[in-house]
Amino acid sequence: MTVYPLFHSAGFRRRTYGGRPPSLSDLAVTFTVICVLALPGYLWLNKFFMTSKPAAPDVDSEAYDHLPGMAGERRAREAIKPPSPEEVIGNFQRRMGIRSEQAARARNLNTKNNMNQRGRQKPRNKPGRILKLNTLEEVKRPMKCTNCTHFPFPKLSKEIKNVCRVNERDNSSVVELVVLIASQPENFQGRLALRQTWLQISKRNKSKVRYLFLVGKPAKGPDQKKLEVEKKKHRDILQTTSQDAFNKQTEKMMIGLKWVTRHCRHARHVLKTEDDVWVNVPALLNWLKAQPLRQPFGVGGFCAPSNTPDRNPLSKYFIPKSIYPQEFYPPFCNAPGYLLTPHTARQVERMSKDVPYFPFDDVYLGFCLQAIRMQVQRVPGFSNDKMAMKTDSDKCRLLGKSVLLTHGYTPTELRSIWSMRGGGKCPRNKRPSAGKGPPASGR
Ligand SMILES: *[C@@H]1O[C@H](CO)[C@@H](O)[C@H](O)[C@H]1NC(C)=O
Ligand SMILES: *[C@@H]1O[C@H](CO)[C@@H](O)[C@H](O)[C@H]1NC(C)=O
Ligand SMILES: *[C@@H]1O[C@H](CO)[C@@H](O)[C@H](O)[C@H]1NC(C)=O
Repeated sequence: MTVYPLFHSAGFRRRTYGGRPPSLSDLAVTFTVICVLALPGYLWLNKFFMTSKPAAPDVDSEAYDHLPGMAGERRAREAIKPPSPEEVIGNFQRRMGIRSEQAARARNLNTKNNMNQRGRQKPRNKPGRILKLNTLEEVKRPMKCTNCTHFPFPKLSKEIKNVCRVNERDNSSVVELVVLIASQPENFQGRLALRQTWLQISKRNKSKVRYLFLVGKPAKGPDQKKLEVEKKKHRDILQTTSQDAFNKQTEKMMIGLKWVTRHCRHARHVLKTEDDVWVNVPALLNWLKAQPLRQPFGVGGFCAPSNTPDRNPLSKYFIPKSIYPQEFYPPFCNAPGYLLTPHTARQVERMSKDVPYFPFDDVYLGFCLQAIRMQVQRVPGFSNDKMAMKTDSDKCRLLGKSVLLTHGYTPTELRSIWSMRGGGKCPRNKRPSAGKGPPASGR
């Protein structure tokens, strides 16, 4: 048997085979040899093409999906690797801070309402200990309930009660806007950056803009000490009674609204926002002057009539069907920032007792609004994305009339935007920006 010399000259063939065609076995051997020789090449090529594929996109980038239903793009990417059921449950439990006792109760009683532990007696468990849930079905949220949701209001210092106080003799001192800023207790830098930038307009409590940070209890003792110092120095922090966690957004918001109805009822507008936002306060005040929120609009901002719950088990905003079975959320305005009035705040506070707890404040507010038959209003200039701030003209745009609120900035970025104010650094907006709001952001 001979390897058939495919690539050799006709002369060589004639010499070896005497001009006869090769036998079948000759061809078989030839084929095998070619395969063996080609194998390393194939492997190398394969490896080369595998490694030169574009790198997997940054799955952790949360720029687009600040909220449930916004995570479409990330969901698609993350769907590549389905997690195991244990991962799903563990992940969800961790994010929602579901603790041992609740889980145990869920298993034993198959309880109706685990997300809402507030109406029941406080379990005296060690905080942070997590027991395994067996299935997500163990965590259920009823669609309706009566007198089941309570938000414990903390004892306030005199300064916090007085944040909104106005001097009655002076007609001009009206609180046009009070800003409630949800913040994590550990985010000292974020709060500082806000105070040094757009919150300066509030001139502590002397202007028509007032503000208050809403934080929970930090996980570590030293942080609480640091926070006490900050509270004394700035007198702008309302601390709730429970430990800060991802699933406490609603609690912070409701405590903030309660504070408004108790101590800031005379404010014209309320803005609920977070500690990484850029708020163009002068432009916002202008907008509010031109068209204040009116009934039946309870809340304004970047609102959508029909967001879908995030069903990706790996997403930060994952909501299993056991907690919310419906296909759509009621209309709501996205959490980076929404406007309301003290009147709405009061109505929502009353209604909230009968609205089962939900971990995301904006969605929860949507549930309450639906119950009191109020609507949401899209405010142009509110964005649910991080708008660009790289170039000077980007920054000028953030300071211009068309941008009211956008989010996702680091303290350094906020300072950098702020530094462009005044001194003629930004060309004046020549044409009025009416009708040309920021691009509607991705959904
Ligand atoms: C509602 O619940 C709270 C706290 O559990 C209780 O103090 C209050 O009396 C209840 N109200 C009604 C009307 O049942
Ligand atoms: C502002 O707050 C300080 C202390 O918190 C208080 O003494 C002062 O009276 C307040 N000013 C107004 C105008 O309410
Ligand atoms: C304040 O308001 C009252 C009633 O609205 C008005 O009579 C009075 O002239 C105002 N004072 C000033 C200084 O504007």
